[in-house]
Amino acid sequence: MLTPLIAGNWKMNTTLHEGVELVMGLRERLKGVDSVEVVIAPPFTMLQHISHLIADSPIKLAAQNVFWEKKGAYTGEVSVEMLKDTGCKYAIIGHSERREIFKETDETVNKKAMALLRDGLKPIVCVGETLAEREQGVTLKKVKAQVKAALSGVSGGAVREFAVAYEPIWAIGTGKNATSAEAEEVHGAIRELIFEMFDAEFAKEVRVIYGGSVKPDNIDSLMAEPNIDGALVGGASLKAADFARIVMFQPV
Ligand code: PGA
Repeated sequence: MLTPLIAGNWKMNTTLHEGVELVMGLRERLKGVDSVEVVIAPPFTMLQHISHLIADSPIKLAAQNVFWEKKGAYTGEVSVEMLKDTGCKYAIIGHSERREIFKETDETVNKKAMALLRDGLKPIVCVGETLAEREQGVTLKKVKAQVKAALSGVSGGAVREFAVAYEPIWAIGTGKNATSAEAEEVHGAIRELIFEMFDAEFAKEVRVIYGGSVKPDNIDSLMAEPNIDGALVGGASLKAADFARIVMFQPV
């Protein structure tokens, strides 16, 4: 059994004061949780500070993005090494907001993935279709192409470092989540593809998590699906009580 991964993506929310309050609330509620890997991704500006606050807790730190070069004249960018300095263990890459608003491509997502592996952070790679693509029936084609591109050039055991987050774009921040069955179909296809690309012994360790309007009232049925290994949570990760309830899911 894979250890489930529940990650909170704070996006561009919270001042330092609000972020600290949120983390303190989570620490209190998540004491002793050890059957789930809990990750939070605050804005860059507070990573270092929050890293100290979670040092003796089960909560781990992620960045919301990263740049692939090691250092140099890349104004506004942050390297893997810099993220490691702050205590990050993970980085989210290829979030649909990055792809849609900031024009990131499969190719740049792959470069970020390779840089994370090279310098020792775990990638959480986001993939997902638009509503139009779902209606055209090309969901699996789109998502599989994104996964294939993101993992291109990854060799053998390195794939174990990855988590893939399936996030249908139409479900993000809309309150309209994919049903458990809809999500399971795509998760199954992603898992199958990873098994085609890599040795089973490594492929079986890749967690495929779901994101898109995950809330306390839908996490239990999502987590009951065999191919859903966790969740990437946006809005509901900004409330300590909601996020803690999601972490303490009870599959039904
Ligand atoms: P949401 O965001 O939970 O607010 O829909 C999820 C995400 O974008 O990762």
